[in-house]
Amino acid sequence: MIKARWYFKKLRLLLLFILIIFGFVEGNNNQLLKTSDDFETPICERDTQCVVGGVCRPDATGKKRCMCSSSCLMTVPVKCVQSNPVSCLTMGENYVSKYNTSLPYCHHNRCVCPPLYDPVPVKSPTPGVPFIPPFKCDKRELQIMLAISPADAVYKGTEATFYCCVNVDPRDYIPEEGVYFVQNGTRRREASTTPYQLFTTTDDSLFTVP
Ligand SMILES: *[C@@H]1O[C@H](CO)[C@@H](O)[C@H](O)[C@H]1NC(C)=O
Ligand SMILES: *[C@@H]1O[C@H](CO)[C@@H](O)[C@H](O)[C@H]1NC(C)=O
Repeated sequence: MIKARWYFKKLRLLLLFILIIFGFVEGNNNQLLKTSDDFETPICERDTQCVVGGVCRPDATGKKRCMCSSSCLMTVPVKCVQSNPVSCLTMGENYVSKYNTSLPYCHHNRCVCPPLYDPVPVKSPTPGVPFIPPFKCDKRELQIMLAISPADAVYKGTEATFYCCVNVDPRDYIPEEGVYFVQNGTRRREASTTPYQLFTTTDDSLFTVP
């Protein structure tokens, strides 16, 4: 009887030991920093594929991903000095302890940052709004919206108006001469303006959503 209890005690100790070892190994695994690969962040080739003001740069994985000014956390200043490589500081302890991406850096005197993966807590709490979803800093997708008035289908000879809306972000997708109208394989209407007329090469227009 006493011997059985002694064995039982030993067994319990052994189990506890195994649990501690497992816990340790698991704890260490959890501490592996996440990279953009873990989030399947899209890979880019050129700055113009990123959202406005975004730049396409290699991150910790060596693959090129978009960095943007809109994804900078409060720890990162808005303006920076091009000549000072550390003037954009870091994304803060919380980010750095979780993610292995890239450091914020200065692009045309504005800090650009790696993607945000966590929601941003709201500083002065608004009822029902505890946090803001992370700003997406990514390759943009082309969006086209089309509406036809008075209806999608009209009788032949009836007047119809087409409203077409194309996002010019990313700028890469829209040709320099603008958007034209094609009917049955023939260019019917040429563009009267180009979406790029409004842009200059000044720093600020780089960060303006067209
Ligand atoms: C970040 O990720 C790269 C590529 O996976 C790795 O070589 C590097 O050691 C990592 N750095 C840290 C601090 O985890
Ligand atoms: C479209 O183009 C083809 C070849 O150019 C032509 O044969 C056809 O009649 C056209 N259709 C309409 C509706 O104009």
